[in-house]
Amino acid sequence: MSAASRTKTPTRQADLVIVANRLPVDRVVNADGSEDWRRSPGGLVTAIEPVMRQNDGAWIGWSGSADGGLDPFVDDGLSLVPVPLSAEEVEDFYEGFSNATLWPLYHDVVAKPEFHREWWESYVRVNRRFAAKAAEVAAEDAQVWVHDYQMQLVPAMLRELRPDLRIGFFLHIPFPPAELFQQLPWRRQLLEGLLGADLVGFQRPGASQNFVRLVRQRVGHKTHRDKIYLPDGRVVQAGSFPISIDTKALDDLARSESVAERALEIREQLGNPRKVLLGIDRLDYTKGIYDRLRAYGELVEEGTVSVEDTVFVQVATPSRERVGQYKRLRDDIDRLVGRLNGDLGEIGSPAIHYMHTSYPKDEMAALFRAADVMVVTPLRDGMNLVAKEYVACRWDDRGALVLSEFAGAADELRQAYMVNPYDINGMKQTIVRAMQAEPRELSRRMKAMRKTVADHDVKDWARRFLAVLADARPLHHKQLRPSGD
Ligand code: F6P
Repeated sequence: MSAASRTKTPTRQADLVIVANRLPVDRVVNADGSEDWRRSPGGLVTAIEPVMRQNDGAWIGWSGSADGGLDPFVDDGLSLVPVPLSAEEVEDFYEGFSNATLWPLYHDVVAKPEFHREWWESYVRVNRRFAAKAAEVAAEDAQVWVHDYQMQLVPAMLRELRPDLRIGFFLHIPFPPAELFQQLPWRRQLLEGLLGADLVGFQRPGASQNFVRLVRQRVGHKTHRDKIYLPDGRVVQAGSFPISIDTKALDDLARSESVAERALEIREQLGNPRKVLLGIDRLDYTKGIYDRLRAYGELVEEGTVSVEDTVFVQVATPSRERVGQYKRLRDDIDRLVGRLNGDLGEIGSPAIHYMHTSYPKDEMAALFRAADVMVVTPLRDGMNLVAKEYVACRWDDRGALVLSEFAGAADELRQAYMVNPYDINGMKQTIVRAMQAEPRELSRRMKAMRKTVADHDVKDWARRFLAVLADARPLHHKQLRPSGD
């Protein structure tokens, strides 16, 4: 996207304000100093974008690169308000506390979280900046919807600045069990930060229960079921709101002629194999890419599948490339793919087709349409929208979804071929079962999953969250006074 498609706009007061670490577009500065804006990676942007298009709100976020102040602008009809991060804050707040402390801790410590006091200080500083920007942009009595683990202090900071606002918070990633959360030296501050919201939403009911239990144990507030009673008389509601996708838009895209043609072309370019297996993930250690490729490699090695009639396509979208764990993962995957292709590939038939890149929506839709088996095997995942996107694109009721039971999506996509991604033999057996399933069986499963994603799309998710938020903070809130007054 070029700079020319953006128009500057004065900051105005908005009735709905989205606060997320990232804007939906990333600023990229080219070698010649010119700038480009590209779509940001990850599921959060995929989910929030259609919500913003339906509501005329403002989206506060970071541009993705260390920079000074950028003016608010309108991009493709969305009103965007950038918040700057310095190079040091990118290291300490984003790469450090957000992605090397909270991310691994909230994902079952599949990598070891690091605790550094200067990272925490940066997290507090940056959260304060986001809260101040939201306070500036929100109209009187506006709804402010704060997103994800990078912003957990914003609700309380914002409430202090603007008690008139209705504040919702949604966590896109898992919320850990108390035993893990307790490791955090700043556990109480994070809980108190979240309690600034009127509604705190999670992907799964278990996460919501973990949160309420921790508040009771660590902060000492009274709780009853999903409600938390604060000493100042406020009631904070917790709940689960499984996120989804823009099902109709994807379904339409997948039915287009250009996508159908491209899907055929992809299969041709792959040598018209009998079966195409596909993985599409951000290159993240939580996604289980390494074990998935190992499982597939073993199937080839043992002769259960042959590289002449089966191909595995793995797309890994570059992510958090300066964080140590992500650098190591990239090296590990590069080495594994190299070894599998060296040991098992034939001329014109590599064992794995590996692409370290991101693709636009239509290319993704064509890949989904080309794939007989979609392999989604995270070790832990808040939801995993790729699994839902695959289902939305299979209007032909074909294709099999192999899905980790540790992805939030497993609660809803119950007709998927479920796997425990830690069990390599089990994963191998299930992949083979999915590859060999009869068309009738595949169609039965796919139809049921398609109904689920059609009935529960992202608009439905946002509507439900905002409706509960509206109820959680009744209109007479201005008359409420803290009990000490
Ligand atoms: O959904 C989880 C999430 O961390 C989002 O908050 C984020 O925007 C996305 O994944 C991609 O990660 P990042 O913004 O670090 O590139």
